Amino acid sequence: MSAALPKACVIGHPIGHSRSPLIHGHWLRENGLAGAYEKVDVPPADLAAFVTGLTERGYVGANVTVPHKEAVAGQVAALTDTASVLGAVNTLWFDETNRLCGDNTDVAGFLGNLDEVAPGWEARTQVAMVLGAGGAAKAVVHALLTRRVERIIIANRNFARAQALAAREVSPEQRLEAVPWSELDIHLGEVKLLVNATSLGMHGQDPLVVDISKLPMTAVVNDIVYVPLETDLIAAARARGLLVVDGLGMLLHQAVPAFERWFGIRPRVTPALRTLIEGDVLRHHPRA
Ligand SMILES: NC(=O)c1ccc[n+]([C@@H]2O[C@H](COP(=O)([O-])OP(=O)(O)OC[C@H]3O[C@@H](n4cnc5c(N)ncnc54)[C@H](OP(=O)(O)O)[C@@H]3O)[C@@H](O)[C@H]2O)c1
Repeated sequence: MSAALPKACVIGHPIGHSRSPLIHGHWLRENGLAGAYEKVDVPPADLAAFVTGLTERGYVGANVTVPHKEAVAGQVAALTDTASVLGAVNTLWFDETNRLCGDNTDVAGFLGNLDEVAPGWEARTQVAMVLGAGGAAKAVVHALLTRRVERIIIANRNFARAQALAAREVSPEQRLEAVPWSELDIHLGEVKLLVNATSLGMHGQDPLVVDISKLPMTAVVNDIVYVPLETDLIAAARARGLLVVDGLGMLLHQAVPAFERWFGIRPRVTPALRTLIEGDVLRHHPRA
């Protein structure tokens, strides 16, 4: 392969689990582009040097995953507004003046997925509930604020973290509220969009126990966990006849802006891509 071929990578520690090479590799092939996407294990001690040396290593940009998202945010020349608010970066690229830039595309990924599966959702969503207060929940709350959701209720096991997330400044028409995990049921009757942004329900983690019987029949249920592909929450919501949005779509949509910045073509999230990644998830985590 020629050294001039544009190549990007994903960096993390460990990095074995990343599905980004499959996604970007699919788009490179689909668009007939000569480029590459690699997976690089970068321990925290090597992070600064790796990021500084991206160009020398031949990279036009990179994805950044656990545990480097926050540290990298302090290393770039320019952050998008989203990355700045979240204090976390998952995509690096060079702009036209060759400055290293950082974005957090989880917000665009979450919204792109919701828009695709539940078009017009924001017009029906006066009240949303977000479960969790970690990095993903922060991105989801930010996404909902950008779409003018009036009231966002945040429930988290560690209540202080929910309170901290609810303390960010919002416009006068909007409200963020923290509720103790043990009291989340009380509010479900008015919730039009329920988002699980905890790691509960994920393969190898504790189950997510939420009684969704109080949700209105017009509610949308979105679980951003995608291993397993169909979580217990999604299965319960589907069984009740609610509109469901799974987490795999967010993973696919968050990759779109990165590919476009590196390779100059806006790629599509197609059924073929979805099938490819579903196959990989099922290969690693078969579920009866
Ligand atoms: N679909 C996508 O593209 C996408 C993107 C990003 C993340 N995700 C998924 O979102 C999930 C959260 O990721 P993250 O980056 O936000 O992780 P994180 O920063 O570590 O946050 C984890 C969250 O889960 C909660 N939690 C963990 N174990 C719990 C338990 N036993 N009981 C109650 N709450 C528990 C934590 O509550 P405490 O604060 O009380 O510890 C916290 O709110 C992961 O499953 C990740 O795979 C999906």
